[in-house]
Amino acid sequence: MSDKAVATVLLSCQAWRERLPALRPVLTARERDDCDRVRLGSVREQKLLARAALRLLGGALCGVSPRDLNIAPDANGKPQIAGQRLTANYAHAGDCVALALAGGRAVGVDIEAVDRKVAHLDLARSQFALAEFEALAALPEADRARSFTACWTRKEAFIKALGLGLKRPLSSFSVSVPASEPPRLVWSATAPEEPDAWAMRTLACPDGYFATLAYARAGDPAVVSEHIWSPETAPETLAAAIAAM
Ligand SMILES: CC(C)(COP(=O)(O)OP(=O)(O)OC[C@H]1O[C@@H](n2cnc3c(N)ncnc32)[C@H](O)[C@@H]1OP(=O)(O)O)[C@@H](O)C(=O)NCCC(=O)NCCS
Repeated sequence: MSDKAVATVLLSCQAWRERLPALRPVLTARERDDCDRVRLGSVREQKLLARAALRLLGGALCGVSPRDLNIAPDANGKPQIAGQRLTANYAHAGDCVALALAGGRAVGVDIEAVDRKVAHLDLARSQFALAEFEALAALPEADRARSFTACWTRKEAFIKALGLGLKRPLSSFSVSVPASEPPRLVWSATAPEEPDAWAMRTLACPDGYFATLAYARAGDPAVVSEHIWSPETAPETLAAAIAAM
């Protein structure tokens, strides 16, 4: 992958379900154990598919066998790929797995189902920056579930790109809130230059979900491409399409 390239890949657990048993050998014993410890079958499937997809596609992009990719979580839980110029992140929710891959720059991705039953304003008041809560409260009620989820995935994609996860207080930065607006980091209490250093994109995804990619601007402008991966497509074919961007 070139150092300008950033690619996102969306997979449906339902579409891949029959192939999951055949994907298990792609994982390390530790990765299989991590998945097997999860009680809820749907989440176990999401985790297995995310890990296998990263190994299969990452291996094809780097020209090594999937098992030979040296992937391990760092101290904060973000998967790191040692010895390759490949950076990655993934997220899973419901039927969806979202992968983000890049030729070296930091990336973070989040996907969430738009849940209309959540107490959006209460959660925003307790979790988000004040400006985000106020922006959400100002929206018509019919728009709140989707914009809450937009804000949530923008915030999570950013803290995942940073690699800090929830160690970065969610009230220490703000993002654009309305789902209809372009995603962006608006304000940072930690470093005033942060909003200029990070870019975001809303990803096309199935109805009922919202997904955001965050990536470091890091010098050269990035070339971002979005892909859907169905089981009929070989990892090498998708890797070639990504490498051609
Ligand atoms: C990293 C974090 C943000 C994961 O959030 P999540 O929504 O539960 O899970 P996602 O599907 O988005 O991502 C999970 C993947 O992120 C990756 N991840 C874990 N820690 C990470 C970190 N510090 N940085 C980047 N990626 C990380 C892992 O690959 C993980 O996969 P796994 O669960 O199969 O091991 C975590 O800090 C967390 O627990 N969040 C809780 C959700 C929350 O309260 N969010 C508030 C948003 S406003």
